[in-house]
Amino acid sequence: MKGSPASRGHRRSRAVYPGSFDPITNGHVDIIERGLKVFDEVIIAVLRNAEKRPLFSVDERVAIIRETYRRSPRVKVDTFSGLLVDYAVKVKATVIVRGLRAISDFEFEFQMALMNRRLNPKIETVFMMPAERYSYISSRLVKEVFELGAPVTDLVPPAAERLLREKKAGRP
Ligand code: PNS
Repeated sequence: MKGSPASRGHRRSRAVYPGSFDPITNGHVDIIERGLKVFDEVIIAVLRNAEKRPLFSVDERVAIIRETYRRSPRVKVDTFSGLLVDYAVKVKATVIVRGLRAISDFEFEFQMALMNRRLNPKIETVFMMPAERYSYISSRLVKEVFELGAPVTDLVPPAAERLLREKKAGRP
């Protein structure tokens, strides 16, 4: 089957893929590709969260994602704050996509999905499993191994690797 679900005669569907994306990894990219097979449009929504201490600013994270998806008209990039379900309603998305790498992800994801359902039963959470080769990748570990001198070429998109290098080079 070729094309988006809408081009195959369905109503257009829009999913939100929320996260910190500090930075986006190839595991995220894998989930977004899977999302595009099911939904017409995937909005990557970067959480504006003052509590965490991110490596990249929200603007930098958005810039990396925009660069990665500059040739993908069905992928949009945005930021949000406040409740995720309220953001989903605002952008007319009916689905939240989350990736599940391992059983260890499940407990927290399950809690979030049920809390989001309680907050708004009209928004459905859909879990997607990345390819096995990405199941161990996390933004946190990518930052750690890069900081300690290991290459991250196969772990993150080129735009993320470039900004990681720039950040490291710019530091005293
Ligand atoms: O990449 P992350 O850090 O695992 O993403 C977590 C995220 C952004 C999905 C989650 O923290 C979130 O949805 N925050 C928004 C606030 C909210 O709606 N909280 C209630 C959800 S149970």
